[in-house]
Amino acid sequence: MRDIIMAGNWKMNLDASAVEKFCNELLEFSHSVEEGVKMIIAPAYPFLAMGKLILSGTGVELAAQDVSFRSDGAFTGEVSNTMLASLDLKYCIIGHSERRQYHSETDRTVNARLKKLLEVGITPIVCLGETLEEREGNRTQEVVLSQLKGCFDGIGLHDIGKCIIAYEPVWAIGTGRTATPTQAQEVHALIRKWLEDQYDNQTSQELHILYGGSAKPENIRELLMQPDIDGGLIGGASIVLAQYSKMIQTACEVYQERKK
Ligand code: PGA
Repeated sequence: MRDIIMAGNWKMNLDASAVEKFCNELLEFSHSVEEGVKMIIAPAYPFLAMGKLILSGTGVELAAQDVSFRSDGAFTGEVSNTMLASLDLKYCIIGHSERRQYHSETDRTVNARLKKLLEVGITPIVCLGETLEEREGNRTQEVVLSQLKGCFDGIGLHDIGKCIIAYEPVWAIGTGRTATPTQAQEVHALIRKWLEDQYDNQTSQELHILYGGSAKPENIRELLMQPDIDGGLIGGASIVLAQYSKMIQTACEVYQERKK
C-alpha cells in the first residue's frame, strides 16, 4: 500500500523568522503524526538549511522549489543539483506551472532538470497539468499525456521509480477552484495507466501521484479518498500551520481507513 505524501509548496512566501517559527511548531506537531503519512515542506532556497537543521530527526523532509539544469559554473542566480545534494535534500519540485508561466519552463527543460536530480539521488516532484482553455477544449488527456512523454523522455524503468508526479490543473492553482475528486481521479488514473503502459504494473502501482490546486482542510479528505490520489502538493494552505496540520491529521485518518 502506498503511503500518503503531504508536500507544502511555500513558493515565495515566509521570511527567515517566519520559517524558523513554522519549523519549530512543526517539530512539535510532528510527534503526533502517525505511520503512513510523510510530510515534506519546500521553503525558499535561503531557508532550506535552517529548516533542515530544525527538523532533522523528525521525519519531516525538505524540498527545493527548483534546480538548475546546468552543472556548477558561471550561471548567476542559479542553484545546482550538487548544491542541493550537499544539504542532503531528498526532494525537489520541478516543472511547476508558475515556473512554466513566468520563467519559460518547458517539458524539455523539466526533463533536463529531472535528469540532473536523478544524478545526485534527489527525488524529483514533477508537476504537470492542463490550463483552463485546454480543459474547456477537451484537451486534458492529450496535454497530460504529452507532458508525461516530454518530462520523462529517456527515463528508464530503473529511474522512473525514483520520481513523484504531481497533477496540478493550472486553473485550480491559487484560484480557490479545486478540481472535483472525480475530475482529479480521472487524470490520476490516466497517469497511472500511462506508467503501466510505458513501464510496468509494479512501477505504476508504487509511484506516488499527488494532487495540487486549491487543496485545503475542507476538501482534502474527499480527494485523498480517491484510489489514485496519493497525497497533495499544497500551496496556500501549507503556509498556515493550523491548516497544514489539519490536512495532515486528515491524511492520517484516511491512511488508517485505507488499511482496513
Ligand atoms: P495552491 O497551490 O494550493 O495554493 O492552489 C498549489 C501549488 O501551486 O502547488
